[in-house]
Amino acid sequence: MSALPILQLKAVGKSYGATRVLKGIDLDVMRGEIVTLIGPSGSGKTTALRCMNFLEAYDEGEVWIKGQLLGYRSTGRTERDRDSEASIAEVRRPVAMVFQQFNLWPHMTVLANVAAPLVLSKKIGKNEARRLALAALQRVGLEHKADAYPARLSGGQQQRVGIARALAIEPEVMLLDEPTSALDPELVEEVLSVIRSLAQDGMTMVMVTHEMSFAAKISDKVVFMEAGKIVEAGAPAQLFGNTQTPRLQQFLKPWFDRSLSPATLGASSANSNQSAQEAVALATQIRGAV
Ligand SMILES: Nc1ncnc2c1ncn2[C@@H]1O[C@H](COP(=O)(O)OP(=O)(O)OP(=O)(O)O)[C@@H](O)[C@H]1O
Ligand SMILES: [Mg+2]
Repeated sequence: MSALPILQLKAVGKSYGATRVLKGIDLDVMRGEIVTLIGPSGSGKTTALRCMNFLEAYDEGEVWIKGQLLGYRSTGRTERDRDSEASIAEVRRPVAMVFQQFNLWPHMTVLANVAAPLVLSKKIGKNEARRLALAALQRVGLEHKADAYPARLSGGQQQRVGIARALAIEPEVMLLDEPTSALDPELVEEVLSVIRSLAQDGMTMVMVTHEMSFAAKISDKVVFMEAGKIVEAGAPAQLFGNTQTPRLQQFLKPWFDRSLSPATLGASSANSNQSAQEAVALATQIRGAV
């Protein structure tokens, strides 16, 4: 098949008023790839992710999804005509988003939350939507919670519903913005494990995360952003093991220190022992290579 990226950003820029928060982002995401965005708070990770499906309108450069320009009618650098909402929806159709704060509707059951986008935007009939929603819930191990309301679920379960809602539309690319950062530490693993299983199934994903050892293990490509720019990008072994910039070294240092500290080892309880050990092994290996 062709080597056309499924998602491509070319010199994407975005300003809020006079503040330019994205300063020329270039990124190619190939089908089946897992790309993680890391970087300090305020570096533009969420904004970049939201520009990838035009939840946020970028105002410089281009975003292409499966060879179609997203958001605008032409590629000119200035005074571009915004596309119609119908065309934007059509171009972004292969892309689904998972939010940090889950964004579930509290007054609707889990099943209704997952089925709603199918009925509302994909115009799928109620029975078929219900069938697809149940299949998506099964995929994240929560079909038994179909009739529950979100408030009755743990944070980890709520985020798995968020993932099921994204999966139900049968996306070709999933965008995940810090999917575990709103969770208590003991609930993180169940969500990471769902994401891991999606990765094993070949789902294309772009994910913002602070889970560094997870990013190192799961990603094909890691992108380090700072102040609206990509400072370094590459395979995890390259980025973590052969860090090029002092800025990334500085960003990674607390993680290395934490992963290697006796406190981390001591604090790891029976069920998190394995992942703690893996993180430590990885950090040691990477640090050894730095
Ligand atoms: N709606 C908005 N209006 C004005 N400024 C904004 C808006 N959203 C984001 N910003 C600013 O844009 C910059 C990038 O924000 P963004 O949320 O993309 O960062 P981030 O890398 O996701 O940070 P974090 O790790 O804290 O989530 C920040 O300086 C932020 O204050
Ligand atoms: Mg963010």
